[in-house]
Amino acid sequence: MNVVAKILLAGSAVALSSMAVASENDPAMLKLASTSGCLTCHSIESGKPGPKGMAPIGPAWQDVAKQYRGKPGAQDFLTRVVLEGSSPYSSHWKGKVSGLSMPPNAVAIKETDARLLVSWILSLGE
Ligand code: HEC
Repeated sequence: MNVVAKILLAGSAVALSSMAVASENDPAMLKLASTSGCLTCHSIESGKPGPKGMAPIGPAWQDVAKQYRGKPGAQDFLTRVVLEGSSPYSSHWKGKVSGLSMPPNAVAIKETDARLLVSWILSLGE
């Protein structure tokens, strides 16, 4: 194999591994989500049942990505919902999840971290 081919191969291996880190298995994002308490109510992958076989408490983040990706303002909107919570009188996921609303998370997570998590969530399942 010539040198150019080797360099090209090495380059694509690096590209592939950084893609893997940008997705579902990103260790920094998983840690942030877990220390902020998000994973008590959310799973990453869709299709996972909630406690006692009920609908999951909150929507799987892959489903959130499917619902909001590419919509203008999604990043800002979802960051606000994460920090301030949602209203049980106008559930965004009514009938699809067993939780009626999300409590405000501003006590558990800083705005910059919430923003980081939301942009990661929006990239899931790409
Ligand atoms: C106590 C349970 C609970 C915790 C903890 C929780 N969530 Fe939620 N989350 C929910 C529920 C329930 C919904 C669906 C709300 C609705 O239908 O309006 C939701 C919805 C969402 C949505 C979609 C919002 C929308 O308007 O469609 C995002 C994004 C989200 N959560 C992210 C997070 C992040 C990030 C954290 C951690 C900082 C977190 N959640 C912690 C229960 C929770």
